[in-house]
Amino acid sequence: MLDVLLDGLASLEYRGYDSAGIAVEAGEDLWRARAATGTRSLDDLRKLASAAPAGVFAGIGHTRWATHGAPVEANAHPHLDCTGTVAVVHNGIIENCRELSEMLLGEGHDLISETDTELLAHLVERELATGASLADALRATLRQVEGAFALAVMWPGEPGTIVAARRVSPLVLGRVDIAGPPTAGPGTAGPGTAGPPTAGPGTAGPGTAGPPTAGPEGCQWMLASDVPALLGRTRTFWVIEDDQLAELRAGSMRVTTLAGKDVEPSELHVEWDVEAAQKGGFDDFMSKEMHEQPRAIADTLLGRALPGGLLALDQMRISDEELREVDKVVVVACGSSYHAGLVAKFAIEHWARLPAEIDIASEFRYRDPILDRRTLVVGVSQSGETVDTLQAMREARRWDAKVLVISNVVDSSMAREADGVLYTRAGPEIGVAATKTHLAQIVALEVLALYLAQLRGIIYPTEVERLLDDIARLPELVQLALDRSDSVRAVAAKYAATRDFFFLGRNVGFPVALEGALKLKELAYLRAEGYPAGELKHGPIALIEPGTVVVGVATRTRLWEKMMGNIAEVRSRGATVVLVANDGDDQAGSEADDVLWVPATHPVLAPVVDVVPLQLFAYHLARRHGHDVDRPRNLAKTVTVE
Ligand code: G6P
Repeated sequence: MLDVLLDGLASLEYRGYDSAGIAVEAGEDLWRARAATGTRSLDDLRKLASAAPAGVFAGIGHTRWATHGAPVEANAHPHLDCTGTVAVVHNGIIENCRELSEMLLGEGHDLISETDTELLAHLVERELATGASLADALRATLRQVEGAFALAVMWPGEPGTIVAARRVSPLVLGRVDIAGPPTAGPGTAGPGTAGPPTAGPGTAGPGTAGPPTAGPEGCQWMLASDVPALLGRTRTFWVIEDDQLAELRAGSMRVTTLAGKDVEPSELHVEWDVEAAQKGGFDDFMSKEMHEQPRAIADTLLGRALPGGLLALDQMRISDEELREVDKVVVVACGSSYHAGLVAKFAIEHWARLPAEIDIASEFRYRDPILDRRTLVVGVSQSGETVDTLQAMREARRWDAKVLVISNVVDSSMAREADGVLYTRAGPEIGVAATKTHLAQIVALEVLALYLAQLRGIIYPTEVERLLDDIARLPELVQLALDRSDSVRAVAAKYAATRDFFFLGRNVGFPVALEGALKLKELAYLRAEGYPAGELKHGPIALIEPGTVVVGVATRTRLWEKMMGNIAEVRSRGATVVLVANDGDDQAGSEADDVLWVPATHPVLAPVVDVVPLQLFAYHLARRHGHDVDRPRNLAKTVTVE
């Protein structure tokens, strides 16, 4: 049984984790072990597991990628209630955790960790105290919970039982048929759980579990957050849908809605090998991660909107008064994060009416920046470890500036040193070239711009609400853009022999052009220059000749007419033009040799959608040229050298 748990967790290792833990039945008690030693956590957990009680029948396990609270043992799953008998593993994000923890503290519950997951254990404890069964206790708990979850709960009061449920975060069941007479025992399934293969700046990792063993029909039931965790043991899975609950007992399994109505889960037969399963059936992590972008945005937004149109950030150690005094924002970042920062400049100036500068982190600290306590310096970094950005933030602190970080990794060096953090919740990103973290960063920065606007009284709460509605639609629009991957591939195929590209954009389209060009360099090893289209006439237009390929970001943002004027300039010199344009924009379409169509959104939010076809364009060209899109040559995911 322990092997099922530990091997299952190891199969989800590729997702990244900062800590790991298991809980198993031990008579009338639970036995729990946790390790928070970063990438050594699973090895350390295996050592600890050698002291587990013998002959256990049910267990749950988890690897954690932090979203709430630092990656320390106290925050590692499984979490327990006050009695120490209800154990929970969870992936996802509980949005109303503030209200829930106030309620539980008010009732005298002891909250030990900084996690949202622990609240679930105490909520189940409350319901069990009314005499409810474990399944009913979980149903009642989940009625009080807002947000995303895939979770599994055990309680020795119902031996050999594991109850699991999901909303948004994935959860699959697997069954292993055992030949020969069934092993005796309360035998039963063990789940595990886990989170979005992706989620947040931390987010729960996987879990898995397996039951020891057989019930009357000679089968074991298991559950996990993702197929690879169980693939070594079964190829037959059942998918738990949103707001469904699974009860695994010795030799039996029941799936119901949260209201208690029985449902027939859909069966899924998986042919993938483990590697393909880790990539979710995609050919590579980059593709998988691009397709996770809608989820990454949605998770980054979870819990940000408070009643009354107010916004919430994470770990703000800067008071609202201090933020109101801010008279300048300086964004510092590298690579794709820098491009997200460029978009932020537009959003901050447009909505918050604050002067915003953006700097490449490696230049920033060597240029005598003018900073003081009224400057807000925003470091943008997926990893939170990039040394140039980290040093830039340290420089800012030396000048007494307030430092805020946008990071995908909880408790990263930058997050620890900053005065405040806003986490993107894109989940671990394995592809070296940033994709889903880039989109999540733009969204987080747009939310920050609205937050500042709101604090400064520049914007009405109703307007914030309206804009948040537009932001909330972004996942759907990004999905539409992703659904057109085949048409982007067909366009890319036409340019397979092209070695040089010009990417042009204006206003918020300029950072998109830069990111499109960067992706092409990183992945396809092609020369690609990103340029503000209005600047073309001051030099680069000399390079335009018949056959030069120009990729223009021509969605209907503020400077669309001017952008189209610039496109006319290159066309009249014989350039071949590929445009990113809004659906139905025949006028833009008639000016292009090829069009990458995207749905329209609010002009300031457009980069989130417009960059998607350019990611796909670079991806398909790189594949055509036979390059490894996950591990481009000469590049590192996290650059900790200057
Ligand atoms: C490396 C990666 C890029 C990333 C940049 C900044 O160059 O290959 O994809 O954009 O670092 O990384 P950060 O972790 O600070 O966002």
